[in-house]
Amino acid sequence: QINELNQNEKYIVKATKNYVFEQLKDDTSGHDWWHIHRVVSNTIKLARLEKTANMFICVMAALLHDVIDDKLVEDEVEAVEAVKQFMTEQSVTTEEQASILSIICHMSFKGGQQAPLSTIEGFVVQDADRLDAIGAIGIARTIYYSGHKGRPIHEPELKPRENMSFEDYRNGKDTAILHFYEKLLKLKDLMNTESGRQIAEGRHAYLVEYLEQFYAEWDAER
Ligand code: ADP
Ligand code: NI
Repeated sequence: QINELNQNEKYIVKATKNYVFEQLKDDTSGHDWWHIHRVVSNTIKLARLEKTANMFICVMAALLHDVIDDKLVEDEVEAVEAVKQFMTEQSVTTEEQASILSIICHMSFKGGQQAPLSTIEGFVVQDADRLDAIGAIGIARTIYYSGHKGRPIHEPELKPRENMSFEDYRNGKDTAILHFYEKLLKLKDLMNTESGRQIAEGRHAYLVEYLEQFYAEWDAER
């Protein structure tokens, strides 16, 4: 069954969990271990729904998707080498390593010269990561990250506009609420898989409701 792990794969996944936990356990930027844990849970759910996805590739890519991110490591090339070496030690085959690395490199090096994701496993893991950026969890992460950067929750004079440019958010005027418009509200339409899109609908609706309540409370209307 391609959708479930065999015994050997379970051992490798367990070792990989320890490896990732050691690297992310002290993170305070929203890429902490529990983010990985939730992305793995989302991934398992989506991989079962998307019946042709290889569970081992999906789970490994979910576990490793942040350990080469430039927000977390100084040298990405070095980090990729370290991940390769770890996987080799764990007897992950060359083909499997290639599949896993192509997913996590694509997800970490935002856009760039990367080839687009093209496998169902890549689509599943990217959707799983995006789901963790919306809904109740996404709201908590956004406000937490904003505080981490020393930014305010909301500035009423900073009105969200359609198609705000990246520069609008980089001139020091970013707020937690603006990030909803910059990113969170867009994710629903970027989902790759049908199962991911369905879950995103519910979480998106929650974001919209949250903003309504937020503005109403801001103006003492509720
Ligand atoms: P990931 O690497 O998990 O795809 P990011 O690194 O872009 O996501 O962001 C990690 C978390 O921090 C997300 O939940 C995201 O919403 C939040 N975040 C990123 N940028 C901002 C920002 N400018 N303002 C508020 N929250 C942000
Ligand atoms: Ni992530």
